[in-house]
Amino acid sequence: MKTSFWKQRWQENKIGFHLNEVNPLLIQYADTLRLAPGQQVFVPLSGKSLDIIWLAQQGYQVLANELSPLAVEAFFAENHLQPSQIQKGDLSFYQSGLITFVCGDFFKLTPTQMINVAAVYDRAALVALPEAMRIDYSRHLNLLCPRQSRLLVTLEYEQSEMAGPPFAVQEDELRAEYANGFQLRCLQRSDVLAEHAHFAAKGLSGLDEAVYILHPQ
Ligand SMILES: C[S@@+](CC[C@H](N)C(=O)[O-])C[C@H]1O[C@@H](n2cnc3c(N)ncnc32)[C@H](O)[C@@H]1O
Repeated sequence: MKTSFWKQRWQENKIGFHLNEVNPLLIQYADTLRLAPGQQVFVPLSGKSLDIIWLAQQGYQVLANELSPLAVEAFFAENHLQPSQIQKGDLSFYQSGLITFVCGDFFKLTPTQMINVAAVYDRAALVALPEAMRIDYSRHLNLLCPRQSRLLVTLEYEQSEMAGPPFAVQEDELRAEYANGFQLRCLQRSDVLAEHAHFAAKGLSGLDEAVYILHPQ
């Protein structure tokens, strides 16, 4: 999956993944990250998620990363924020209050940019990627944030019934690829097919949403 795919999705405003509210699962489970106010949360492949605003409202610093400049510009405009902006190589850094937004390719981020990150919040990032890219993503995240706790939201369904994105990510894959050096615990697994009628219409017979907390071992 090329970066142009996602840029085009934003250009065409095909962003069915975006929630017009803070993700209730974040509100429910944020404390499992065991953060103190002032610590920084990394939100990879963040889109223009309102979860970033909520995390900042809790007093956390937020480091968000998103490929599409349209998404980043929309995030600040829709939340009535006027960020400062600087360009560093391929990456554009936006800053407003507790929020730092890095616009650019996740795979171009480096560990030095993560120096203050205390935890990772991943909703619809891992599941945005096909299997081969998920392995690269997991490896790069392990390089960027090898010891930081992670709160992860995934989707599970029979992959042969629907082409992603979103892609199905099973717990076995997480344990093999994503959770190296971490203790992984499933906090919740719920049937969400009824809330996603358009996926049922595409042929899905079942759809579960799973929430995991990972702490370094
Ligand atoms: C399924 S969306 C989820 C967005 C957000 N996490 C949310 O919950 O609304 C995936 C996002 O990842 C972004 N993305 C895809 N590949 C990326 C990459 N290599 N680097 C940074 N962002 C990327 C896309 O533009 C898209 O906004």
